[in-house]
Amino acid sequence: MSVDIASEINLQDELILDAGAAAALFLEARTANSWAEDEIPAETLEAVYALTRMAPTAMNIQPLRVLWVRSAEARERLVAHMADGNKAKTLTAPVVAVLSYDTDWHELLPTTAPHAAGMVPTFAANDALRQGMAANNAHIQAGFFIVAARAAGLAAGPMTGFDAAGVDAEFNEGSSRKAFMVVNLGKPNGMVDRARLHRLEFDAATATV
Ligand SMILES: Cc1cc2nc3c(=O)[nH]c(=O)nc-3n(C[C@H](O)[C@H](O)[C@H](O)COP(=O)(O)O)c2cc1C
Repeated sequence: MSVDIASEINLQDELILDAGAAAALFLEARTANSWAEDEIPAETLEAVYALTRMAPTAMNIQPLRVLWVRSAEARERLVAHMADGNKAKTLTAPVVAVLSYDTDWHELLPTTAPHAAGMVPTFAANDALRQGMAANNAHIQAGFFIVAARAAGLAAGPMTGFDAAGVDAEFNEGSSRKAFMVVNLGKPNGMVDRARLHRLEFDAATATV
């Protein structure tokens, strides 16, 4: 397998994934801006979540909440809050996921982390700590969500170009959820509209001490 980064290793030799899986999940997967028209069955979305939920989170708090936007009416409400450059693709993607984090994740601690249930009052009293942990850990889950979508045969188009306050007013009103990412999803159509951008080399992005 060729990798377009300067490297002295044979990448495939170092992986436990077969070459097809490595290509589908990482090396050949691209951020998508258009999709095949195929409808995405509910079962596929359940598979995406089944993988996503295995992401590690601090204390297993799992703050990510996903809203699948499918109806034309909900789609219009969402698109109104997308940046202009993101409107057309958000209208045409077969499914759109609004990713939010739940700042009240501590209420589920007795289920998600029974060993830490005694800390519920501590977290309840510290909004800033809860918000920071929710955002950090939900972003980890979002990364897994994108790879999970690829594993389920979908092409993902993650976006942060939207009015988060507007999306919250539209879909998260009266809840402890905060929207932080919108992900367009659909079957790949084989069209890539731009060249792969440079990825930092090992020595540029890492150090060893
Ligand atoms: C957190 C995040 C936010 C992004 N926001 C936008 C966006 O608002 N609009 C857009 O067109 N692309 C957006 N992108 C897409 C990136 O530009 C794209 O993933 C990156 O250039 C890598 O492209 P590649 O996966 O095809 O190599 C976003 C990606 C991520 C991960």
